[in-house]
Amino acid sequence: MTDPFCETKLTLHLTPRNAMTYSTSQIAELFPDLMTISDAAMRERVAAAWSEALTSGCGGKGWTFAEIRAIPFTLLAGKIDLRFVEHLNSCVKQCIAIEGVLKSTFGDRIPVDHDSLVAGALLADVGKMLEFDKDASGNVVKGSFGELVRHPFSGVALCFKHGLPASVMHIVATHSYEGDKSDRTIESIIFHHADFVDFDIAKFLGKRAK
Ligand SMILES: [Fe+2]
Repeated sequence: MTDPFCETKLTLHLTPRNAMTYSTSQIAELFPDLMTISDAAMRERVAAAWSEALTSGCGGKGWTFAEIRAIPFTLLAGKIDLRFVEHLNSCVKQCIAIEGVLKSTFGDRIPVDHDSLVAGALLADVGKMLEFDKDASGNVVKGSFGELVRHPFSGVALCFKHGLPASVMHIVATHSYEGDKSDRTIESIIFHHADFVDFDIAKFLGKRAK
């Protein structure tokens, strides 16, 4: 009997480290809050991870900027007019807003690492570029790679390859239900809730749209 997992073709064509198809400023066109990361090296690493995900994702075909701007926010919520890139930008802005509220209310008693928070928020779903593929009709679907390796795992792999610190990998690893049994850091708690504000609203709207 053949093992279906071994039969599945999962070859990814990853780029060498530091080889960037898209520059940091091009990635910032998609995600403007990238530029709020104060550490220039961290900014570059976030952009490098995104550049690789864009060029090696979609079953190896890669994604154009126009294609990723058109991806729906979630494949799970039915016909709603919210987009994946909008969701990422919404989450980063919510995280920055929450950070500001916590700082103005509690001061240094709730320390938030802004750079890790923004980098983690921008990279939490970077693995979806590998998780998603397009079917013969051009619809965005979960691909064979994504069936086996969900985006928190591929996202951490991309972060590790591009030299992101553990504080950022932690947010990527724990942001979704896979992290429910982990002790999330302050930054991961903030991102997890921001993510689910959007996601739960999308589900609510999706149910009404049926
Ligand atoms: Fe996610």
